[in-house]
Amino acid sequence: MKKGEILYARKFPEVRLRRLRRTSSVRKLVQETRLSVNDLVCPLFIQEGLREPHEVESMPGIFRLPPGHVLKNIESLYELGLRAFLLFGLPTAKDSNGSSAFHNDGVVQRSVKLLRKNFSDKIVLISDVCLCQYTASGQCGIIHNGLVDNDKSLKILGKIAVSHANSGVDFVAPSAMMDGQVRVIRQSLDAANLMNVGIMGYSAKLSSNLYAPFRDAAHSLPSQGDRKSYQMAYTNSKEAMQEIRLDSQEGADIIMVKPALPYLDLIYRAKISTLLPVCAYSVSGEYAMVKAAASEGFINEDEVVSEFTTCIKRAGADIIITYHAKKLAELLLE
Ligand code: PBG
Ligand code: ZN
Repeated sequence: MKKGEILYARKFPEVRLRRLRRTSSVRKLVQETRLSVNDLVCPLFIQEGLREPHEVESMPGIFRLPPGHVLKNIESLYELGLRAFLLFGLPTAKDSNGSSAFHNDGVVQRSVKLLRKNFSDKIVLISDVCLCQYTASGQCGIIHNGLVDNDKSLKILGKIAVSHANSGVDFVAPSAMMDGQVRVIRQSLDAANLMNVGIMGYSAKLSSNLYAPFRDAAHSLPSQGDRKSYQMAYTNSKEAMQEIRLDSQEGADIIMVKPALPYLDLIYRAKISTLLPVCAYSVSGEYAMVKAAASEGFINEDEVVSEFTTCIKRAGADIIITYHAKKLAELLLE
């Protein structure tokens, strides 16, 4: 008999896997994956000039917040146990260079300063670093000769990252999918003496139809064309692993796969191919589908949210960005 065969030779009727499923107490004892509130990152949209919270039509329960409401909003999420937040800014002004993204008194910068002052190091603040909310074109980079210009965009992404870092974020999260963005941001941060600010790279960000509700939420729909010249094709997984490897070589502290649910294979491959923490972003469309089906009574929202998020963790995600964060925190408190 070869090594290992003794174990595999065991079979029914000696083996009965149902013994481990017999009672709820036994099932809990052998449970392999446990979700914790510490795994979760809660995204927030902050809109300059807004007076009252505005619910996103395609994302029931998710609001664009006025800058004046951010503090009390995070206070209530903190009460539920949430400690990590991903901030998106919606400026009043857009231009060709996305310059409102790197102003010191920009919407993200001001919110971060306020939050850091009130919470000191009790919360983790992560800022999305991209141009699409800030450019007139709605593209994630600078347009030059009709194309999204990689290297011109890098300069601006570096400036945005430094201004967010100066305001007090723990991590900047570049999501533009420009080649070399992690490298340039690392160099820019280090040159500004911000070596302790980390980078969470949106490493394998696939060009997904599931971003549609976000573009509605963040006012970042491209006025023309799509994002396929920089976001990855969902047909490719070797390329996703290259993106992850490059981001880690360029100095990312955390890598990300996005979206999550239809991409569990990539999350698993990421987990076994890198030693960095793996983050998965369960995106707006994943949220919208669950909310829509639940509101029709077709599924049980609480159960499905727990199942989906636990499965994303089981696939290999150490950190999960999810719009269900508040709901999950409430469920985990029970
Ligand atoms: C912007 C950005 C997007 C998301 C996060 N950052 C949208 C996009 O690339 O069009 C998607 C988030 C979501 O759908 O929840 N670069
Ligand atoms: Zn973008």
